[in-house]
Amino acid sequence: MKVTFLGHACFLVEGGGKSVIIDPFLTDNPVAKAKPEDIKVDAILLTHGHGDHLGDAVQIAKNNNATIIAPYELANFCGGQGAQVHSMHIGGDYNFDFGWVKLTPALHGSAYVDESGVTYTGNPCGFLVRMEGKTIYHAGDTGLSAEMEVIGRTNEIDVAMLPIGSNFTMGPEDAAEAVKMLKCKTVIPMHYKTWPLIDKDPNEFCKLVGDTAKCVVLEIGESYEF
Ligand code: NI
Ligand code: MN
Repeated sequence: MKVTFLGHACFLVEGGGKSVIIDPFLTDNPVAKAKPEDIKVDAILLTHGHGDHLGDAVQIAKNNNATIIAPYELANFCGGQGAQVHSMHIGGDYNFDFGWVKLTPALHGSAYVDESGVTYTGNPCGFLVRMEGKTIYHAGDTGLSAEMEVIGRTNEIDVAMLPIGSNFTMGPEDAAEAVKMLKCKTVIPMHYKTWPLIDKDPNEFCKLVGDTAKCVVLEIGESYEF
């Protein structure tokens, strides 16, 4: 299994000849290098409707004839824009062609906001994804929550992607607490340095993690294979 960091909370996840992208925020992302038209995937996973996560999802879905997997309200919102969708909700799991997906709780908001107003897009989530017998956990945007202890107890997590930027999500200290609860083998920090407001140092986070887990800081475009 291989994960490639495309900037902010966006990861390309590959395994068994299939690939999915999580939270494909590329076009308006000041740090992203990949272009939506270059993305080749079997599915798109969305944690919530905020612009920095929904991003280019609908365009990528249409380009690839790929399905958007998201919480019910957000899936319907994307379906309304002509994308093929598979709606799920927190606590539910499903076996797709590319692998297994389960939606986990996230403590955050979820709405699509533009000039015309605010569109409610349901509850935000995180994802457990299993491909080739390996499991990743992408927390989405969330604060530290006690549910992470249960997620860690009931899943063997190989790699966890956790937000560390603070202000909108967990900061480094809380994310290091999350690592203890998740008992993941490896942690990859995300959702930092995209803008000055979330300018946290990933190496400081790794220091806080210590020997609780292997801490891998990925450059934009860099991959981690496990
Ligand atoms: Ni958000
Ligand atoms: Mn965000």
